[in-house]
Amino acid sequence: MVCVLEASDLYKEYPGGVVAVKGVSLKAGRGRVSLMGPNGSGKTTTLSMLAGALKPSRGVVRVCGYDLWGKEWIKARRHIGYALQKMPFREKLSGMENLIWYGLLRGLGLGESRRRARSLSEELGLSGYINRSVASYSGGMRKRLSLAAALMGDPDVLILDEPTSGLDPRAREELWHLIEVSLKDLTIVFSAHMSVEAELHSDYVYIFNDGVIVAEGRPSELIERYAPKPRIIVYVRGDAEPLPIDGVEPEIVARGVYMYPVDDPREGIRRIVDAYSQHGVAVERIETRKPGLEEVFFTVTGRRLEEG
Ligand SMILES: Nc1ncnc2c1ncn2[C@@H]1O[C@H](COP(=O)(O)OP(=O)(O)OP(=O)(O)O)[C@@H](O)[C@H]1O
Ligand SMILES: [Mg+2]
Repeated sequence: MVCVLEASDLYKEYPGGVVAVKGVSLKAGRGRVSLMGPNGSGKTTTLSMLAGALKPSRGVVRVCGYDLWGKEWIKARRHIGYALQKMPFREKLSGMENLIWYGLLRGLGLGESRRRARSLSEELGLSGYINRSVASYSGGMRKRLSLAAALMGDPDVLILDEPTSGLDPRAREELWHLIEVSLKDLTIVFSAHMSVEAELHSDYVYIFNDGVIVAEGRPSELIERYAPKPRIIVYVRGDAEPLPIDGVEPEIVARGVYMYPVDDPREGIRRIVDAYSQHGVAVERIETRKPGLEEVFFTVTGRRLEEG
């Protein structure tokens, strides 16, 4: 049986009056679901409410049918594993000792915690350094240890807040490979640091802006719906004004950097270069780009997603 995570109409007002999440409803069954959005859009707040770590001001979260804040909250929480963006590990202790601690917190006995920590460290490629103190870990090792800690209670639903942030591209790919191979049977909800991660690694994405969901769907469907055309980005010298091409105004990416949706990239490049040269403006660089979730975000919100 697939354990479904379902949230309806979540609100969160922090002490001090910031309303970080304003009416979010979402659902995750088997597969990977991502929350994508700019800094401060409410992803972490939502994830911690889904994980049962933060009480919603309003709204309900159900896990495998149990209300996270209802009478059966203990049953509900047993199904969830949560990896925070930065886990508060005890730095002087080893990875193994930290994992055992998480096992004890989840109500496992010492022997069981140790067995589980050992098998997870093998599965997640941590064995080589599991007995070293966490203080000596690299970013990639810490992220693997976070994953292992979240898995100590053998959850059905895994909530990962920016599972790969701070990693270089190679370590990021390795971690995704691990998640996709070892954890393929779990329901995974993660927040995405970069739009390409949501695009490549999730089956379904919820796009957040200012505490609400502004679009949701399979990445490919969203791109088809909101940004079906290839883009041409032109870099012009100095601060030349953007020119409309066939009556279409470009998106202004930055001063001197303009982006045009086109039907046919080759034809588009020709027209754009012609138009600027007719105005005596030198084109310094021109590139085509396949649209992605970043363009979807722009179409839906009119804002650029800051990539970090
Ligand atoms: N403990 C808190 N007290 C008060 N306000 C908070 C608290 N935590 C978050 N906020 C505010 O709530 C809003 C949403 O923050 P949240 O951390 O959920 O966003 P996010 O999408 O995870 O951002 P990021 O991409 O930077 O991680 C922000 O305006 C933030 O400043
Ligand atoms: Mg966050």
